[in-house]
Amino acid sequence: MQLYAQAARNAMEAGFDGVELHCANGYLVNQFISEHTNQRDDEYGGSLENRLRFLKEIVTAVSDVVGSNRLGVRFAPLFESTDEDRVYLGLVESDPHTTYIEAIRLLDQAGIAYLSLAEADWDNAPDLPENFYQEVRETFSGRIMYAGKYSADKALRVLQAGNGDIFGFGRPFIANPDLPERIRNEWPLNDVDPVTMYGGTDKGYTDYPVYRS
Ligand SMILES: Cc1cc2nc3c(=O)[nH]c(=O)nc-3n(C[C@H](O)[C@H](O)[C@H](O)COP(=O)(O)O)c2cc1C
Repeated sequence: MQLYAQAARNAMEAGFDGVELHCANGYLVNQFISEHTNQRDDEYGGSLENRLRFLKEIVTAVSDVVGSNRLGVRFAPLFESTDEDRVYLGLVESDPHTTYIEAIRLLDQAGIAYLSLAEADWDNAPDLPENFYQEVRETFSGRIMYAGKYSADKALRVLQAGNGDIFGFGRPFIANPDLPERIRNEWPLNDVDPVTMYGGTDKGYTDYPVYRS
């Protein structure tokens, strides 16, 4: 816990406005939350309350340093899809809805500034169920951010349904240095090159062209 608090202290001293706790995508906090990876038989394992204990403790420790209004938390809830062709990497919890709504309730009680939900973003990834979006909104009173395979149209749909406040773009931003301008003007987007996406050389970092009519 103290290492998280110290890291937050370092970030604030370095001049950041706040910190985000990465509790998604298989990182440490996710390993405590997941019934697949958490094999503990102490007060940090077993029941959902126990599997959320580590999350609760670091949220408290980091809030004490930065203030809960400068804290965000990222989760990546994975759901099964009814489409049997889709792949789930064996990561889906037996009850992701209850697990993550309970985790989000805990964050709401802690009064954190925002919740960041990373949706599955691979080609045949399952979508989040509509009732999950809605219950997230009912459970959490701060700002809600979604990311993962978003287009401007999808972001607008989720915004207009009242389910989200902020939308993150990853690959479209890598491939389009002028992404906001392109979205604003409904210009076409460059496709990202998956070969250069994870680095190697400088190719694919600064050489995507801006839009020219
Ligand atoms: C090149 C690349 C590296 C990424 N690395 C990480 C990572 O280390 N940890 C993580 O949680 N998400 C990572 N992401 C996922 C992004 O945080 C974000 O959720 C995702 O890119 C949003 O989906 P989109 O690219 O379809 O817009 C990465 C994404 C890309 C494209």
